[in-house]
Amino acid sequence: MSVGEALPHESAALHVTGHALYTDDLVHRTKDVLHAHPVCSPHAHARVLRLDTSSALEVAGVVRVLTADDVPGINDAGVKHDEPLFPEIVMFVGHAVCWVLGETLEAARLGAEAVEVDYEPLPAIVALTEAIDAESFQGNQPVVARGDVSLGFGAATHVFEGVTEMAGQEHFYLETHASLALVDEGGQVFVQSSTQHPTETQEIVAHVLGVHSHHVTVQCLRMGGGFGGKEMQPHGFAAIAALGAILTGRPVRLRLDRTHDLTMTGKRHGFHASWKVGFSGDGRIEALEATLTSDGGWSLDLSEPVLARALCHVDNAYWIPHVRLHGRVARTNKTSQTAFRGFGGPQGMLVIEDILGRCAPLLGLDPIALRSSNFYVDGQATPYGQVVRHPERVAAAWEQVLTTASVAQRREEISAFNATHPHTKRGLALTPLKFGIAFNFTSFNQAGALVHVYKDGSVLINHGGTEMGQGLHTKMLQVAATTLGIPLEKVRLAPTRTDKVPNTSATAASSSADLNGGAVKNACEQILTRLTAYAAGRDIPWDELVREAYFARIQLWAAGFYRTEGIHWDAAAMQGHPFKYFAYGVAAAEVEIDGFTGAHRTRRVDIVHDVGDSLSPLVDIGQIEGGFVQGLGWLTLEDLRWDESDGPGRGRLMTQSASTYKLPSFSELPDELNVALLEHATEDGVVYGSKAVGEPPLMLAFAVREALREAVGAFAEPGVSVELASPATPEAVFWAIEKVRA
Ligand code: MTE
Ligand code: MOS
Repeated sequence: MSVGEALPHESAALHVTGHALYTDDLVHRTKDVLHAHPVCSPHAHARVLRLDTSSALEVAGVVRVLTADDVPGINDAGVKHDEPLFPEIVMFVGHAVCWVLGETLEAARLGAEAVEVDYEPLPAIVALTEAIDAESFQGNQPVVARGDVSLGFGAATHVFEGVTEMAGQEHFYLETHASLALVDEGGQVFVQSSTQHPTETQEIVAHVLGVHSHHVTVQCLRMGGGFGGKEMQPHGFAAIAALGAILTGRPVRLRLDRTHDLTMTGKRHGFHASWKVGFSGDGRIEALEATLTSDGGWSLDLSEPVLARALCHVDNAYWIPHVRLHGRVARTNKTSQTAFRGFGGPQGMLVIEDILGRCAPLLGLDPIALRSSNFYVDGQATPYGQVVRHPERVAAAWEQVLTTASVAQRREEISAFNATHPHTKRGLALTPLKFGIAFNFTSFNQAGALVHVYKDGSVLINHGGTEMGQGLHTKMLQVAATTLGIPLEKVRLAPTRTDKVPNTSATAASSSADLNGGAVKNACEQILTRLTAYAAGRDIPWDELVREAYFARIQLWAAGFYRTEGIHWDAAAMQGHPFKYFAYGVAAAEVEIDGFTGAHRTRRVDIVHDVGDSLSPLVDIGQIEGGFVQGLGWLTLEDLRWDESDGPGRGRLMTQSASTYKLPSFSELPDELNVALLEHATEDGVVYGSKAVGEPPLMLAFAVREALREAVGAFAEPGVSVELASPATPEAVFWAIEKVRA
């Protein structure tokens, strides 16, 4: 049995020894490569009046400059046709107006400096609140509603209103965006790309080149992290490399340096939410009305589906009888914000967690009790109409954390500590998590696989998912070995490519093990069925069986397919049953804050998380720890700042390096981090009873934010509502303390 075994990541040894190859490593194995460098706009919004590339061509080593005139197909890098690859109007600081190809990267860079561009600056909208005031919106404005909110507010004993704002987040994958394109002997374009969505990269390369998809093959070896940032954003870069390869006949490499990656590519959406909430006398949520506005940046990209997921997660784990949620996407002159682990879910959930955290003192209730008393129970449905299955798992995980983390006892210790420490306070909080698994857009919930059994009994699998460190390939190897009933060593996995498995969905929505696992299993079962029929009850070792079956002309390979059953979604009505199931979890966090500086430390975190029957426990625990820490970074450290002044730098990303953008590191890890997988959690209808794990744990970090709120509250009189900015950086915590002290 391989599924369920605690194995290291299939590339762990390669990762730690530096032998794992990433897209850009292939450059050194490729002859005559040209290097691409962008010419970036210094303006947040401007019309390109003149573009003169002639002086660039005089720079030694410059081979060609790519401009809009070179595009044989469609000059667009997206699927919404609002992202010109070579723009006439630049929409953000860093927007590439053209690309220079050089014999070396340095030559291309010098060439880019020599390109002359005249701009006519236009008024720019930078802050999200500016966009709201100016009514600068793009895309759909969906509404999720149930019941009658005015009835709910009428019946409520307490009604509160407020605004919750939260910042975005930089992906900061270790490997920046990279593509390497070449034209093969048949005139076909082959693009190696660090992409979560090879099929869409292929489609966009094809439409830019004006060729059909079968002329373009995209391969992704692996990514040094994607986190959603490589779901949509790689396409344009791949298209530039491919265009350069077609026009020069030479391989073209495009890899963004860190500064370019930070300034040119999209990030998590910041959100603004205004809300009104009604509670009964005993703290039951009666009604919620809210307007969520996301900061989409300059183009739509994935902003609409991100917004839809945000709206579908405002409820988190709580029953809200009367609810009305409006959503809008603002258009601002910033990078085009995009998918980021949780895909809007975290932003939606932060709204309700912020509401509960702020209202608990006003209701005179313990936040732990306020939260648990509002949990969904059996038979209740979400605001978008999906009945919540297994809500008792949240309650079970909650009880487990209360016990294993000795919450009652530690709260007493914390009170005693706070009573004797006027300048240092501690706080402890619990938050629950419910996250829907499947793409909201039903069609994406399909996957394919290609499994070959060779005559010697060895097995090679291909599937539609990409590996970005999350351990998908490890799980797929385990699924294949288990289904075929052979040792793991007999199975090898080949890189993801569009000529092996076509029409794939993005490796996203945490669904890739569910989808591709289903497809791999399906392919293996087809082969096994044929082999079993051939064996006709004889007990023959695998290798012999395979060899014999070959001579008997039995097909030893198969294409597998999987589609998620039982889901549907009406995107106009924002109603349906979009998710196959929900992933659940609970976290308890204890923090300590310093009253003089706002500096904070996470003392202890206890997590119970539901992954069904884990396919690969070590991988899953790694995902839970990593997701949690990434959430902690978003909520308490990482502080994206854009120049919102009227100076010449307006619209510039000011935090464009690791020296000004604080990522979580070892020193921000909780002093103690305990992760347990929820037991007896088999999920039926999913591959080997497992559940998705990739994104949900990020949202367990709400517990840290709520614990910070508790600790700030300890500086105030009881009953004071604590408002905390997001991110709750030390600076933000300091100001929150100042406010409650006043
Ligand atoms: N883990 C690592 N190490 N690196 C990543 O880039 N991306 C996350 C998550 N875990 C990511 C990761 C995101 S955004 C998603 S959607 C899932 O992995 C995607 O993979 P899965 O569907 O196989 O879970
Ligand atoms: Mo993940 S944000 O769905 O790539």
